[in-house]
Amino acid sequence: MLERLVRGEVPKKHHIAFRDAEGGLRHEECLTRAGFDGPYTIAYHQHRPHAQHLVLPEHGWNVPPSAPPRPIAKRHYRTQDLAPVGGPPVDARVPLLYSSDVVVGLVTPDAPDPVYFANGDGDDLYFIFQGGGLLRSALGDLRFEQDHYLYVPRGLLHRLIPDDGPQRWLSLECLGGAGIPKQWKNEAGQLRMDAPYCERDFRLPEFQGPLDERLRDQVVKRNGAFHGLRHETSPLDVVGWDGAVYPVAFPILSFQPRAGLVHLPPTWHGTFAARGALVCSFVPRVVDFHPEAIPCPYPHANVDVDEILFYVRGEFTSRRGVGPGSISHHPAGVMHGPHPGAYEGSLGARTTSELAVMLDCYQPLSAAPAALAIEDEGYQESFF
Ligand SMILES: [Fe+2]
Repeated sequence: MLERLVRGEVPKKHHIAFRDAEGGLRHEECLTRAGFDGPYTIAYHQHRPHAQHLVLPEHGWNVPPSAPPRPIAKRHYRTQDLAPVGGPPVDARVPLLYSSDVVVGLVTPDAPDPVYFANGDGDDLYFIFQGGGLLRSALGDLRFEQDHYLYVPRGLLHRLIPDDGPQRWLSLECLGGAGIPKQWKNEAGQLRMDAPYCERDFRLPEFQGPLDERLRDQVVKRNGAFHGLRHETSPLDVVGWDGAVYPVAFPILSFQPRAGLVHLPPTWHGTFAARGALVCSFVPRVVDFHPEAIPCPYPHANVDVDEILFYVRGEFTSRRGVGPGSISHHPAGVMHGPHPGAYEGSLGARTTSELAVMLDCYQPLSAAPAALAIEDEGYQESFF
């Protein structure tokens, strides 16, 4: 994701004998991406991290069945009408929209994960609409708060410990991985000086050494199903690690927005790139400054992508009928744009207070049954 980090004790070279004070051999765990071609992290365990028994999985969320085709239309789903599921995060996820690249859902937990979880299907990117908590992994503890993105790399064993109080997290399960858009990095891998954020904006795990929470069970999601494993020893028995694969949190309000003489396209708001998808952050900002600029987005056919917008708070000048928690879905092939009056009404505006997460998806999104249950049936006709 970002630069290489080193935490705790690591040996002088990869793959050499690394012993504790009593002469015991420590064991590597290599968390790699793209086979062995991509970024990686190597952690050093006190015990063999791969000693696991098979057990029946007792946790996992409901993966949606295949959806029958529906008429193409502009859609609006009100996640604010979705009753909290409760329970731990590993059970409290409700998928709403999905494609072969990304699954968009809502997570409404009220208890800590009682098991460790590793998603073998993809990276998990959350946006914390309400609440906060702690992500615990062998790489350290990572706090996340309301208005943060939380990125968890595929395959990382971890558990989520929500704070007390209501929790509503948008979840983007990125089945082909996610990361920093390449246009924001220079040839050394640093974030460019003209990127909309810098390394200092990201929160990193705080490593404190080996930990035994007396938890041994783990759930793994792979190929859309959940599987159970039982470790012989604590999987958090790590004395040190180094590498570039680790979870991060990013406060959306640290995103540095741009304004242009006239309206800038969403690509300028790109925050995370996933296979077949771009995640954009729309944050409060000054708008376009040409004396005759129309700050409201122009009507457009979003050629190639399904576009969804998750409304967080503020004035959503181009839309009516949506509110915090709404998800609009404008599929490729259907022109979309502002609601009546919004285009003209935006003339002369100097600022916008909108806060929203947008996702452009190259593969068509289908609606899960949970989304159909919270759909605003009048949305398509609300543009007249
Ligand atoms: Fe759009």
